[in-house]
Amino acid sequence: WGQEATVTINAAQPGPILAPEIQGQFAEHLGRLIYEGIWVGEKSAIPNVRGYRKDVLEALKAIRVPLIRWPGGCFADEYHWRDGIGPRHKRPVGVNTNWGGVEENNAFGTHEFMEYAELVGAKTYVNGNIGTGSAREMADWVEYMTSPSNSTLAQLRRANGRDKPWTLDWFAIGNETWGCGGNMRPEYYTDQLRQIRTFIKPAPGQPTKIIASGGNSDDLKWTDVVMAGSANMIDAISLHHYALPSFGRATRGTWKDKGSATDFGESDWFALMVTATQMDDLLTRHSAVMDKHDPKKKVALIVDEWGNWFDPTPGTNPGFLEQQNTLRDAVTAAVNLNIFHKHAGRVRMANIAQMVNVLQALILTDGPKMLLTPTYHVFDMYKDFQGATQFPVTVAGPKYTYAERSLPAISASSARAKDGSILVALTNIDPNNTVTATVTLEGAAAATISGRILTAPAMNSHNSFGQADAVKPAAFTGARIQGGALSVTLPAKSVVVLTVR
Ligand code: AHR
Repeated sequence: WGQEATVTINAAQPGPILAPEIQGQFAEHLGRLIYEGIWVGEKSAIPNVRGYRKDVLEALKAIRVPLIRWPGGCFADEYHWRDGIGPRHKRPVGVNTNWGGVEENNAFGTHEFMEYAELVGAKTYVNGNIGTGSAREMADWVEYMTSPSNSTLAQLRRANGRDKPWTLDWFAIGNETWGCGGNMRPEYYTDQLRQIRTFIKPAPGQPTKIIASGGNSDDLKWTDVVMAGSANMIDAISLHHYALPSFGRATRGTWKDKGSATDFGESDWFALMVTATQMDDLLTRHSAVMDKHDPKKKVALIVDEWGNWFDPTPGTNPGFLEQQNTLRDAVTAAVNLNIFHKHAGRVRMANIAQMVNVLQALILTDGPKMLLTPTYHVFDMYKDFQGATQFPVTVAGPKYTYAERSLPAISASSARAKDGSILVALTNIDPNNTVTATVTLEGAAAATISGRILTAPAMNSHNSFGQADAVKPAAFTGARIQGGALSVTLPAKSVVVLTVR
């Protein structure tokens, strides 16, 4: 006998729009993300469109990537944009001091990023350099990207091949300024932010929203100080939260022994669920601090780095943060997207770290080969949530218990998609037990259901270059309409997304 859950969807009282940017991506100059993952150059034997590899580009378009954040991360606070414009062969070569100490030849710069975002159809999020940059450098960069005038910087952009300004959707003033971005105290950062913000002037008509560098995980003081000092000058503040199995173990571990991406048992499955689901509580607490300073919720909380962080794949450069991606990653990705949907009144962007070949990547490449990870498939299954209207959801159901610690087994979210259908996302994090959920739609009727499921035989099932389709979505047949409600049988460790009409 399976376990039972009750999921109640309040379709009569719709909530906020789910910002498409909740499914945003993060692309840092790190390891094999930009170079090989996105950019191979026009002369590469890997099929490419003006230097961008075609397979990855098509895969990103297929899931309608809504936004890309670039160039970092920690890299952003050592990035000088002028190094990345002009003829490629003349661009200076630097050292990527944060990530493996490798050479950075600047072949991928502002033009390449902006053009790539246009090809993907994604909004642009450029992260400015406060750590080793200046107000002037950031102001000039924004002018270079956005000015329609005949200023010297706008003419330089034209000389480098781009006539019209690009659309700059988001611009951040620093990254992790409490750490790699300068080891600042929040008071000092806030003063810097106020000063620099004064001089960031996107051209009239640009939609550019300004982001303050936010706190790490449960650093509520950071959010408090920055909001108190700058809420009237910014559009968003960021939050970073990574899930490490070591952080969720009964005896909390450290960054040194995070846990393997593929070689784990139920103990580290559970531990990862603990640390990943902390996102819900973190968003509640940071939002409460923001409410004090901004009760009308004008300032967005954006989770511009989130995801799972494991020990690097053995044999790879540890500075490249390469890791495999299993069914476990798919489950935490779905749970986190459900959490972002719940908090959509404040959370208007979230960027998984990172898009290709780094950390919880959606796509892995190996030279000319490419594979889609289980996390990619979750984004594919969730893509119709972009721009949908959230419905409040309550879940009453079984616990998933391991070694005397428990978590709710079922995570859910729901929304009305732009085409009028109702989307219902359900994840069963329990790797051992099937759960049958009775889903009630208050204020809506169900005539038909269709859907997809992502699951696999083992907790660590994953796709490899030899077997790229080991984990992939399948048509879901475990849902039926029964007495006005839905009865949904959720296998152990599964992600389901239903479309109800
Ligand atoms: O995503 C990898 C790194 O994690 C980013 O560069 C940094 O912002 C964070 O610490």
